[in-house]
Amino acid sequence: MHKLLTDLGSNVAIIGTQWGDEGKGKLVDAISGNFDVVCRFSGGANAGHTIVVDGTQFIFHLLPSGMLHPQTIGVVGNGTVVELPALMKEIEDLNKSGLTDVGNRIKISLRAHILMGYHKKIDAELERRKGDQKIGTTGRGIGPAYTDKISRMGIRCEDLLDRDLLKEKIERNCAFHGKNLGISLDPQEEIEALESVREQVKPLLCDSRKFLYDQMQAGKKILFEGAQGHQLDVDHGTYPFVTSSPVSTGGICTGLGVPPQKITGVIGIAKAYCTRVGSGPFPSELDNELGEQIRKQGAEFGATTGRPRRCGWFDAVATRTSLQTAGVDAINLTKLDVLSGLKELKVVTKYTLDGRELFVVPTTRKANEKLEKEMQTFPGWDEPLSGIHRFEDLPENAKQYVLALEKLVGVPIRAIGTGPDRNDLLFRE
Ligand code: IMP
Repeated sequence: MHKLLTDLGSNVAIIGTQWGDEGKGKLVDAISGNFDVVCRFSGGANAGHTIVVDGTQFIFHLLPSGMLHPQTIGVVGNGTVVELPALMKEIEDLNKSGLTDVGNRIKISLRAHILMGYHKKIDAELERRKGDQKIGTTGRGIGPAYTDKISRMGIRCEDLLDRDLLKEKIERNCAFHGKNLGISLDPQEEIEALESVREQVKPLLCDSRKFLYDQMQAGKKILFEGAQGHQLDVDHGTYPFVTSSPVSTGGICTGLGVPPQKITGVIGIAKAYCTRVGSGPFPSELDNELGEQIRKQGAEFGATTGRPRRCGWFDAVATRTSLQTAGVDAINLTKLDVLSGLKELKVVTKYTLDGRELFVVPTTRKANEKLEKEMQTFPGWDEPLSGIHRFEDLPENAKQYVLALEKLVGVPIRAIGTGPDRNDLLFRE
């Protein structure tokens, strides 16, 4: 048993607590050998996890990155939106990179919605129409795919099993969206794209709820692998600058059909500073040279889109709200090493609006314009942290920074990322 997992029980969730890109993949890689099954429960190929093992790079978009372990079964749950040709390509690429037998270790929910080519076109058109209010999406069609799901006009993986109905639904949806938005959508192209992968996909489809129920009954261990971060959750994040699915702990129950009491522990991933891609409120943003320096030191460029990430100080208010709402038991603080060399560090400790303390980052533009924030300043440290494996061996100021964050957010920090390498991860007792 990995020591971070002590007291967390057999079915553990990993949840991002900021705006995504907290570095979840590295912890998943470190602990997933302790689990029999790893699951994605929401989102789609908007996520991007890059893991380097012994010099070989593996890129995961929709598949759970815990699948790096050769025996692990991966589940793509009903709460996800799946671009099937892209998923088949991801499987093929991972096989080529040397990962064993990926296709035979994947289960896709019959109820997962298919992300169609037209969803990407609609995503682009909606962003164009929003002008300076645009969300800055990843362009992967995520919002339109979930819109169809909620409007009860989505196409699910199970529809692949009925060719005639599938064709009818595709034609109907292309006509509907094409007319609504005044764009040209080609149903034949969509049908052919699905036909090209139908036979490959069919054996992977299953009732993933039943599969997971049986696994849990048999005492197997399950890892729920979150994508994005709590502040991008469609309900709990900085709406409308969010993704379109429930990405926090609640999404596990709906996106996999797992009852809440079966989630026995939650690990929250928080970066030692904050980043966000796309538009939307980010009160601790450093839109200056310092932000640029952090971006360079932290290689803060999107794994899916390559976009530079906006960088800023650690936001203790936003992170604390995420931890409380997601029910986090233990934190993995990531990328502490990126802050080495900064003279001083700041942390947002309080938000006030019209004399009232706020517990979340406000969502409306007016509130954000008037928002007052309090910051606390900490002395920095110069030493690189890579290769340090005991908390006690960190530079004194780094230790003090970690302890202060822990106090501010109210949840124990039990793992700390000290460098990009797989081994640059230290655990506290
Ligand atoms: P969408 O999920 O592509 O619709 O994008 C909505 C918002 O979520 C945009 O601000 C994206 O940049 C952000 N987003 C989506 N996926 C990720 C991710 O994996 N990491 C960081 N931000 C993301």
